[in-house]
Amino acid sequence: MKIFLLIVDKIRQIVTFRGKIFEKTRILSSFMNQKPVAVITGASRGIGRAVAIALAAEGYDIAAIARSVDSEGMAFLGNEVEKLGAQFFPVGFDISCTGCHKEVVANILERYGRIDILVNNAGVAPLQRNDILDMTEESYERVLNINLKGPVFFAQKIAREMTWLKNQIDNFRPVIVFITSVSADLSSTNRAEYCISKAGLSMASKVFADRLSGEGILVYEVRPGIIQTDMTARIKDKYDKLIGEGLVPQKRWGLPEDIGKAVASISRGDWSFSTGLVFEVSGGLNIHKL
Ligand SMILES: NC(=O)c1ccc[n+]([C@@H]2O[C@H](COP(=O)([O-])OP(=O)(O)OC[C@H]3O[C@@H](n4cnc5c(N)ncnc54)[C@H](OP(=O)(O)O)[C@@H]3O)[C@@H](O)[C@H]2O)c1
Repeated sequence: MKIFLLIVDKIRQIVTFRGKIFEKTRILSSFMNQKPVAVITGASRGIGRAVAIALAAEGYDIAAIARSVDSEGMAFLGNEVEKLGAQFFPVGFDISCTGCHKEVVANILERYGRIDILVNNAGVAPLQRNDILDMTEESYERVLNINLKGPVFFAQKIAREMTWLKNQIDNFRPVIVFITSVSADLSSTNRAEYCISKAGLSMASKVFADRLSGEGILVYEVRPGIIQTDMTARIKDKYDKLIGEGLVPQKRWGLPEDIGKAVASISRGDWSFSTGLVFEVSGGLNIHKL
């Protein structure tokens, strides 16, 4: 449900450039959603979808991002979200298109007037697993653009909006979550570009947590282990065997809902004195053993 925002529909900033004074005008949505709003990237399937459903159950209205909004996955998510009494706004774009970020954020703000939590989840594996000595520049750039550059600049854009919104909304508790991977810390020689992207995103999470702590914006990293999704479907047999042999101390595949629960806990404010925290959701895969 939306309520009319009475006072602020424009703010003006004076900007100086080479001695000249410019006036920057910021147009805001004239509506402010009553419920908090969650933006989830990569929401049409797997982990992102489970996170979106968990946040809808926590009382958030949802903006769901994926490259394709016409997919079965997006339709399924829309139904689930609406069954939980939340609003659903699908947004189609490629997170690596940094030039699109401004318009996407503007569209979400036009629809809802606020963003309370961003879950930067969209990510891809390399199209082909190659030894690091055979890794191509093309694959490196694809993975780094989607998994690292896109989420970093998307978070930057939304953090700026949150910084402004916090003075406009009572009880505003802005949060940014980065979904990285155990691969931020574990080496896989046949998908180095993925590990490098996740290690970079892990540091991005730390730096955003540091910079935004004074702004009242909390930032967390969630590191999934081996999770049953489309991403791991093509290597399911390999991981079935490895998990059976004890690779994961808790001896099972992770489920997207395991990550949904972690993000739901963050969204409730259970970790409000722990900005920068890294949540390992990997069944103990993070334990280094001798
Ligand atoms: N599954 C695992 O074992 C595992 C483990 C650790 C970390 N993770 C991380 O968790 C995140 C989600 O993984 P998942 O397993 O749920 O993947 P998935 O099942 O392949 O789903 C990926 C989601 O991201 C969207 N997406 C892909 N590329 C995108 C792009 N360039 N721009 C916008 N959206 C994009 C996809 O929709 P479209 O195709 O329509 O764009 C889909 O909604 C990823 O960052 C992944 O690295 C996964």
